[in-house]
Amino acid sequence: MTAKIEFEGKQYELPVVLGSENEYGIDISSLRGTSGGLITLDRGFKNTGSCESAITFLDGEKGILRYRGYSIEELADNASFLEVAYLLIFGELPTETELEKFHSDIKKESLVDEEMKKILDGFPRSAHPMGVVSSLTSALVAFNPTTVDVRSEEAMYKSIVKLLAKFPVLCAWAMRKNTGQPLDYGDTSLGYVDNILKMMFKKANEEYKVNPVVSSALNKLLILHADHEQNCSTSTVRIVGSSHAGLFVSISAGVSALWGPLHGGANQAVIEMLEAIKEDGGDTKKYMAKAKDKEDPFRLMGFGHRVYKNFDPRARIIKKSADEVLTDLGIEDPVLGIAKGLEKEALEDQYFVDRKLYPNVDFYSGIIYRALGIPTEMFTVMFALGRLPGWISQWKEMRQQKEPIGRPRQIYTGANHRAFVPLNER
Ligand code: ACO
Repeated sequence: MTAKIEFEGKQYELPVVLGSENEYGIDISSLRGTSGGLITLDRGFKNTGSCESAITFLDGEKGILRYRGYSIEELADNASFLEVAYLLIFGELPTETELEKFHSDIKKESLVDEEMKKILDGFPRSAHPMGVVSSLTSALVAFNPTTVDVRSEEAMYKSIVKLLAKFPVLCAWAMRKNTGQPLDYGDTSLGYVDNILKMMFKKANEEYKVNPVVSSALNKLLILHADHEQNCSTSTVRIVGSSHAGLFVSISAGVSALWGPLHGGANQAVIEMLEAIKEDGGDTKKYMAKAKDKEDPFRLMGFGHRVYKNFDPRARIIKKSADEVLTDLGIEDPVLGIAKGLEKEALEDQYFVDRKLYPNVDFYSGIIYRALGIPTEMFTVMFALGRLPGWISQWKEMRQQKEPIGRPRQIYTGANHRAFVPLNER
């Protein structure tokens, strides 16, 4: 199968790649060479596939999301986060023995070098936890081998296990620093998600008992965020890793990319927006008008998605979960009412209908995080905790497929050649 591009009377025949869900991609990699310089231009990569990947399938028109072939709905209802992590990274659901070994290997690596505490100490208490987590993840390199022999499954496995073990400790430390709590190493007798909760919430002078409602809600949220194919942060991880930079620094770059309010930072931005609307008297119509006003930079946070153009399947699961968690925990949060009101108005509004703007995964996730007692500045860190296995699996796939260094082209629009003018003549 081929496609043809015609330019200035010449035809270029290009191979077409077919995916396992019948998606076609025109492989333009030979175009520049055969045409003597012609490239394709695609701002924001809206129409460009950067790789072939066997990890996550999503169909934005039909609202389908699958990890390694398994639907997100089934995984969210039945699996543990660690099972999903294993599935994403190694390609198959683990057997009981495989899962036990995986978890036990992670537990053995769950201490972080004490020297790391000095680095954490250097941050002001007001530092945003995302900046702290990104820096600490990068700093992990100083205490662990900087390069992984990607030809060795064993070396790759060791590195992955280390990161899955230490990253939650760093995330919990970032929160404890931010909230003025002494650092904690958790408890290896607990499940992976329960241990995250304990590391975050254990008070120095009290026992910590895991609430099963909280644990199950967090398990679901982490699964829903675990991978989303070539999104901004994942593409960042792949492109940084494509220079053969190590796993930890590639993930640190992913954390930075996730921080932005148009990506993972949206969950914090949504709750801040809902709070602001509440403080302003709850007039949702005023904010709908602001979102539609092209002169106003305000956007309805938690609405719209680059790929989902009908609905975000994760948002459906999360909306139901938000209702359940608030009921189970006996919490009445007025911002839930504002969120539902905004959603209803937006879904009926021509501006949003025309642009296919629907609530995304993070429209309701902040409401759950808040109900679980997680501080607002930690919301995006929770997203990063969920996305970690996705980033790892994408980095591993990229290195094992021996992908070339990521290096896009450009169309230059600057000044043409001009003679240098000495300083005293300018
Ligand atoms: N509120 C108001 N208008 C919006 C919104 C919004 N949330 N999102 C998109 N639009 C409008 C744009 O202004 C544009 O209008 P125009 O065609 O009249 O110029 C049109 O819809 C298309 O928007 P783009 O920004 O071109 O769409 P893109 O695919 O590049 O962006 C994005 C997707 C970044 C998610 C965008 O919808 C947005 O900014 N949403 C709010 C932030 C957010 O919730 N991000 C989380 C995404 S999910 C995730 O990362 C987990």
